[in-house]
Amino acid sequence: MTAYPQIVLQNRRPGETISLEDYRRNRGYEALAKVLRECSPKEVIKTVLDSGLLGHGGAGFPTGRKWSFLAEDAPFPRYVVSNTDEMEPGTFKDRTLVSINPHTVIEGMIIASYAVSARKGFFFIRPSYDEVEGIFQKALDEARQSGFLGENILGSRHSFQVGPHRSAGRYICGEAKGLVHALEGERPHPNIEGHLTSEGLWGKPTIINNAETLAYVPHILRNGAAWFKRLGKNEAAPGNKIYSVSGRVKRPGVFELPFGTSLREILEEHAGGMQPGFEYKTCLPGGASTRYVPKGFYDVAMDFESLSKIGPGHRFGTGAIMVFDRKTCLVGATLNLIQFFSRESCGYCTPCREGLPYIQDLLWRIENGEGREEFIPLLRSMSRWMDKAYCAFAPGAATPVLGLIEDFVEEVHEHIAQKKCPFKDEAQGIGEHSP
Ligand SMILES: Cc1cc2nc3c(=O)[nH]c(=O)nc-3n(C[C@H](O)[C@H](O)[C@H](O)COP(=O)(O)O)c2cc1C
Ligand code: SF4
Repeated sequence: MTAYPQIVLQNRRPGETISLEDYRRNRGYEALAKVLRECSPKEVIKTVLDSGLLGHGGAGFPTGRKWSFLAEDAPFPRYVVSNTDEMEPGTFKDRTLVSINPHTVIEGMIIASYAVSARKGFFFIRPSYDEVEGIFQKALDEARQSGFLGENILGSRHSFQVGPHRSAGRYICGEAKGLVHALEGERPHPNIEGHLTSEGLWGKPTIINNAETLAYVPHILRNGAAWFKRLGKNEAAPGNKIYSVSGRVKRPGVFELPFGTSLREILEEHAGGMQPGFEYKTCLPGGASTRYVPKGFYDVAMDFESLSKIGPGHRFGTGAIMVFDRKTCLVGATLNLIQFFSRESCGYCTPCREGLPYIQDLLWRIENGEGREEFIPLLRSMSRWMDKAYCAFAPGAATPVLGLIEDFVEEVHEHIAQKKCPFKDEAQGIGEHSP
């Protein structure tokens, strides 16, 4: 198996959290000290910009650019949020990251706060991540006791406090604007006009980044932008990436690899290939709101640009790879995802609130022997209508449906022709298929 430099999961040991002592032994908090001593906030932003760091929460927006949107004369207070809501089915990289290395996320948050002159931050975490919150809270206490957090950090003029905040427990709370409302104690409708960098939490400038994005920041500041860029496999994929793999592979789990590593290498080498008796059919490359990778793309580089080149609607997402084998029914799997999305719709806009249950019903009928050929164009047009919804939730929900009817439509035809799920006698699609 090819071994690569580990950056944020360095010194990982099964079931253990890297202590403050171990983190410091590996030069942890050196970047913070250097930044406070030697760099202006503008220089920090420039280094992050030059590194090419892309947001790891799903959209891949350049982090340095996001930080630079926060105008120098913007009002105070300003806020920094680590988005650790992670509720998308199949996604578990942030849980692993924070459990192993909470201090790199904390150091990243403090450096971000210095770059944008924020004095207060929130660690927004999925409520079912009880244990992770405990780990993070302990690390926060350690950082505070050692002078890395609080008033006049390391004797500088910069002060910063972080509070953990439990999410309200719905998927939409992870969407940045929904998150703002959730954190304020309001309904998490993502109905905020304009940029959060101007008007975010309580109407003040706010930076929201995924926990993994923040985790790379100290390493970029310590080793330089050029070093970070070189870690990736291609120009458009700077740095490392935490990929997670689930499904019938021999070694499901979380792997820190160069960004842009091929799907084949991730599955065959790092995840150990398929379990005996199972053959790879496809995968969702980056969580439930990405599109099934079509046949013939097993060697695709796993990064934002390469995935988007497969064709319209293809996205990299979060790098949470969900593998489907030949015995798994994709109609059933897609139905399972749509059941999740229908339930999680925040209900604010009509296409999503009304359209997703409709799509769910059509898929349920196909899966349960009541399908008709005319359902296929109906599924297509309903899914396309999701683009008219208010936020990215609904088009994301429709993405696996479009993948199913465009790249794996033969499975849908088979269900309709046989008036049953042809996979039922083999192995199963995932989850319950109730209406
Ligand atoms: C429905 C929905 C749920 C989301 N959930 C998360 C989440 O749990 N964690 C996350 O970091 N980003 C999530 N995002 C993306 C955020 O809106 C935002 O783009 C991200 O936190 C920005 O951080 P980044 O620039 O570091 O990627 C979600 C987006 C949508 C549409
Ligand atoms: S698309 Fe769905 S989740 Fe987004 S605002 Fe509309 S109803 Fe809410």
